[in-house]
Formats: sequence, structure tokens, C-alpha cells
Amino acid sequence: MSKRVSLAGMHIDRTSAVPLHLQIAAHIREGILRGVFPAGTQFLGSREIARELGCSRTVVLTAWDLLYAEGYLVSTPRGSVMVASVAAPHVAPPSATPPASRPARTSERWQSLLGLDYETNWPSVFAPGAPDISTFPFREWSRLLRQSWQNPREQECLDLPSEGHPRLRSEIANFLGSVRGLVCSPEEVVVTSGTSGALDFCSRMILDPGDEVWVEEPGFIEARWALTAAGAKLVPVPVDDKGLVVSEGIRRAPGARLIVVTPSHQYPLGVSMGLERRLELLDWANRNDVWVIEDDYNSEFRHQDSMIASLRSLDREGRVIYFGTFSKIMMPSLRLGYIVANRNFIDGFSKGRARIDVHTSGIGQLALAEFMREGHLLRHLRAMRRVYAARRNALIDAIAALMPDDLTVSSAVTGLHLVALFTDAMQARMSDGEAAAVLKQSGIHVQPLSQNFLEQPTRQGLVFGYGRLQVEDATPLLARIAAIIGSGRRNAPSAPAICSRTVRTIKGS
Ligand SMILES: Cc1ncc(COP(=O)(O)O)c(C=O)c1O
Repeated sequence: MSKRVSLAGMHIDRTSAVPLHLQIAAHIREGILRGVFPAGTQFLGSREIARELGCSRTVVLTAWDLLYAEGYLVSTPRGSVMVASVAAPHVAPPSATPPASRPARTSERWQSLLGLDYETNWPSVFAPGAPDISTFPFREWSRLLRQSWQNPREQECLDLPSEGHPRLRSEIANFLGSVRGLVCSPEEVVVTSGTSGALDFCSRMILDPGDEVWVEEPGFIEARWALTAAGAKLVPVPVDDKGLVVSEGIRRAPGARLIVVTPSHQYPLGVSMGLERRLELLDWANRNDVWVIEDDYNSEFRHQDSMIASLRSLDREGRVIYFGTFSKIMMPSLRLGYIVANRNFIDGFSKGRARIDVHTSGIGQLALAEFMREGHLLRHLRAMRRVYAARRNALIDAIAALMPDDLTVSSAVTGLHLVALFTDAMQARMSDGEAAAVLKQSGIHVQPLSQNFLEQPTRQGLVFGYGRLQVEDATPLLARIAAIIGSGRRNAPSAPAICSRTVRTIKGS
């Protein structure tokens, strides 16, 4: 009989949370897989091993039982413990690069997704689109979360429909009717994990790899990610002062399968799409059987003029898939949003989704339905409209007063951000990327407009979020920015800023 193997060299960690029998089993498993304990190796008896390791015999026997069950060990006719002959090839000898530090092998689609370089979630008062949550009614929200989950209905815990909680769907339909003037039934609504989740599913549902999609140029980079992950071919279509240039889209990609637009408040430029363009877009989409996604983010915050009707409300053929989100009117980490579309689309969407991720987490859905039913969302929205309008005005005033020769505010009647376009003089001095880089060195983080282009940028500017900008900070911050990148005025004025809130619309590129 060959010599029986001891475990005397094994290191036992008595401070570890991993029980001793699992440590012994892991040591032997690893040794077998690496060929240190080849098939046929016999171990010392359990009493001797227990003595060597300073543990009880039961611990060793429990480890043996586990390895018998997993097929690593067998017992000999004479009752010894022996390494089984496992057909699996030996694991390669350890390589110089530990597996964790090797790049994961991924699909080409995933690689192109990671190749889209863009910074997200940076902490700055100027982060575009970040809402202020300091006055969010957390007390009501937590009461409703508690209340919803104290006595949940069994059905809600076990089997939530993939379309979302029926009560939330119905509250969303009411909300859209009263806040957005969009008439829809609860059956046309699906709850999603925000706009990003909605886009991920819709692009996989609508597109085959290689299909062309019109995206706005400049546009919402994050929308491009989900489309890229679905294998779409992105076709940038320019935006002018009337919104997406439909004729250019037709020229560049007449065979497109999907169009993604932000008609009420184009991201990032802020322009709203004119009626003629909307009709042109719908007409072309209808004639060519192309889906249109309307991302209606932020339209709840209209600071000037009256609310613009949604593209979906013009749609007679169920062509438009409308996206809304609670990321701005509540907070992004909720990951709750919704789709409104024709019932056939909703049906196909929900059935397919039920096979992939089932549904959006139910935790917040019921609480949100109650939050809306009790009127807290509308109250919060009304209060935040006033807050954001004041912040927007303070920012526009500060830009007009401190950088009149450098920046021109583009359309900024909706939302939580505005674009300050570079004047020709400013553009002659530096690019927006250079401006953002020098500002960042001084601790001021502003997004360069050019980051939102897929192709060569045709405009230069800075994207200022103001959702989290305190009114009193606007002038001092703009004075610092002017001192760093401005052409003339170096100091903040002591007199109140000259107000010029009439917003100029941008000219076509
Ligand atoms: C154009 C646009 N759409 C939608 C969203 C919201 O995305 P989500 O609902 O995934 O948070 C944002 C957020 O910044 C946005 O800028």
C-alpha cells in the first residue's frame, strides 16, 4: 500500500468565519484539482488528521462526508479515504496572471458598450439632471413603504404581473392625464426600471443586431448605451432649433427600424420639436413601419410658456412608445419609470420581459401608488417647480451678467439643466473640452457639450445642471468660472445681476 498522506502542512485559520470542516474540504479539493493529490492518494485516518490539525475528529469526518458527496473522495474496501479517479483534466498550473485580474471575455456588443467613454454620476452642483432631494417628503415615503409591506397580499409577494402593480399603473395613467395632458388607460402602461431599463427592453424587442436607429445629435449618451448593447447601428441625426431634422434622418438611414427622440425638451439642447417636424416624423414612421420612442424626461418641469403636447398625443396609429421616469420628480435610485404604448406592444413587451427579468422590483411600486394616490407626489412636484424655476433664473442671470461675451443660453424653458453655447469669440479661445478641463482643475465640474456628440461636434458649450444649485451660489460660482475661462470681467458684480431671462433659441448648425 502506498504511503498515506498527512495534512500536517495545512494552514487552519481559527479567526476565519469559515467553519473548520469547510476549510479542510477546500484545501483537499484544491489539492485534487491542481494534481497535488492524484487519484488513488490515501489520507491518514481521521483521528490522526484531527490530532495534526488540532481539531475534533467530527470536524474531519464532516469534511470527508462533504467530499464523498461531491465525488472527490471514495472509501477503499479496507475503510481508508482515497482520492477518486476523476475524469476531468487537471487544472492548468497556476499562471502568472491571477484570473481575477484578467479581462473578462465578453461579446463584441459589450466591448463596444464599454468603449463609449463617458463619465456618469459625478458629484457636482452642475451635474445635468440631478434632482434636489433635500426637501423630499421622506417621512411620508417611509410611512407608505412600511404600511405597504406590513400586511402585503400574498399574491403581491409571489406573483406581481410583469406589467407592474395594477394600482401603480392606474395612478400613472391618472398622473399623465392631469400633469401631462396625455390620455391613456392603465392597460397601456408598463412599469419599468427607469428610462434606461425601458430602453434596454424595447431595443432588444424591436431590433436585430445591425439594425439602424436614428439618434439625436447631440443626444442623450445613456440612451445610446442600451441601443449599442442591443447590437444597434447608431445613426446620428442633427438637431436644429426645430428639433430633429427628419429629412436628414431619411437621407442618412432610410432603412432605420427605430427612432429615439426627446421632442418636448431635446437633450441636451433643450429645444422643443416643432409641430411640422412632429407630423413629418410620424408620417414617415407610419409609412415605413418604424417605431418611435419618445423620451419625455423632465417635461413635468416646464418653467415658461404652456405645456407642449406629447408626440404620443398626436399619434393615431400606435407608433409612439412614450417613456416617463420618476428619476427626476422623485429620485434616480428608485429605478422606477414607465412606458405608455399601444396594447399589442405592451402585451408583447410584458410577455417577453416576463421571460428575462420578470418585472421591476415590487418593493417601491405599491408605496409609490399610495404616495401618488395621497397626493404627495403632486405636492412635491409643485414645490420643486418653484425651487427649480428660481435656480434656473439665478443661473441665467449670472451667466448674462458675468459672461455675456462668452456664453449664450440656449432654450431653457423646461427641466433641470441648460446649455450655455460658446460665442464665436469664446470658441476662438478654447474648446469646451479644454474649458471643462481647466474648470475641473479648480474643483468646478461642468460637462462639455461636445461629450454628447457621436460625430465631430458642431457646437461648443457647457451643460449646466441647476437642480442642486442654490440660488445664492449661482453668482459666486459663475464669477469663479468667468475668472477662469471668461474673456473680460474678472470679478463678481456687487450690484444685482442684470436680468435677461428671455431665452434665445439656438440656430441650426
Ligand atoms: C434624456 C434623459 N432621459 C431620461 C433620463 C432618466 O433616465 P432614468 O429613468 O433611467 O433614470 C435622463 C436622466 O438623466 C435623461 O437625461
